[in-house]
Amino acid sequence: MSYKIPLFDLNFDQSEENAVLETIRSKWISTGPKVDAFEKRFAEMLNVQHSLALSNCTVALHLAMKLCNITDGDEVICPSLTFVATANAIRYVNATPVFADVVDINNLNIDSKDIEQKITSKTKAIIVMHYGGFACEMDSIMDIAQRHNLRVIEDACHGPLSEYKGKKLGTIGDVGCFSFFSNKNISTGEGGMLVTNNSRMFERAKLLRSHGMTSMSYERAKGHSTTYDVVELGYNYRMDDIRAAIGLAQLDKIEADLKKREEIRKLYVKALNKIDSIVVPFTNHNGFSSNYIFPIILKNSNYKIRDAVREKLVKAGIQTSVHYPAVHRFSIYNDLYSELTNTDYAADNLITLPMYSKLTNNEIKYISDHLLKAISNG
Ligand SMILES: Cc1ncc(COP(=O)(O)O)c(C=O)c1O
Repeated sequence: MSYKIPLFDLNFDQSEENAVLETIRSKWISTGPKVDAFEKRFAEMLNVQHSLALSNCTVALHLAMKLCNITDGDEVICPSLTFVATANAIRYVNATPVFADVVDINNLNIDSKDIEQKITSKTKAIIVMHYGGFACEMDSIMDIAQRHNLRVIEDACHGPLSEYKGKKLGTIGDVGCFSFFSNKNISTGEGGMLVTNNSRMFERAKLLRSHGMTSMSYERAKGHSTTYDVVELGYNYRMDDIRAAIGLAQLDKIEADLKKREEIRKLYVKALNKIDSIVVPFTNHNGFSSNYIFPIILKNSNYKIRDAVREKLVKAGIQTSVHYPAVHRFSIYNDLYSELTNTDYAADNLITLPMYSKLTNNEIKYISDHLLKAISNG
């Protein structure tokens, strides 16, 4: 279905096309110099020591679990109001996700108080997810981690260049994970990045990315090494140069894109101020956000009312989404069901409105007017 206003629009132009063409013509299309350059620039932009390009963020999260030595029987505390991959990564290493609630409907990030309550003798790590690019309470979370000797993994898929007290998200915990899936702030189709300031973890991640091999084919092609050993059971989690070239073109545009998104958020907040029956989460948030998405939450509502509002917006040609159905309510997590009051309310009453840098003032007005109409008509 084509919408008058889609949820998301790619920030692509001739530069991505040129980047792909140039890479194809270079005749080196798998992991190579473009991946090297993409990693280097990403690390510089985040002011982090190491960054490793991967085939997607799900595998970055899996590697993060391996790097933190999470294994059978361990528990990892994570949010439920996230994409399912955040929790699945914990299961990949036979550990158990323990879901913590979000702070409240104004702050959809994991609640540090609930994290602390859920710590047991089996807890080994905390995965935070910076919802929408708005930073979690990292001071409290890092303090809890230090007191209980836990690792911290940041699922920073929503927040490239977002900040917490001057530090880029993804660089505060032990490992940060990013996604470049097609609807993300930086899009390469599929793609991910793992960042860390821990050199030992980085070296191990590099091995695990490519079958546990001590060198990669482009290093051998450059004559740096002629043979290799396999020292650990690794995977093929590599990014190719075609995607890295698109990533480099996207990095040229990211700062301007995020500035526009900031303006769009302000326009939305102003336009939606007149609707008493909704909450715009993170209204009082301090710190730069990538504004990956623009969620609103209906007050005194339920999922039936929410779904009816979304249906009316579809009729007006406005695409919306729900970030996210709560992970702890999915069938595969039935055995781990727990009472997460705020997460449940958010998941049932949240609507993600369109957000991308090309959204116009008129389109924001159109969306806000139709939202008001859809809510007022009951
Ligand atoms: C919060 C979050 N975590 C993990 C992922 C997984 O990323 P990928 O699709 O690159 O594997 C996504 C992407 O949708 C996400 O939004």
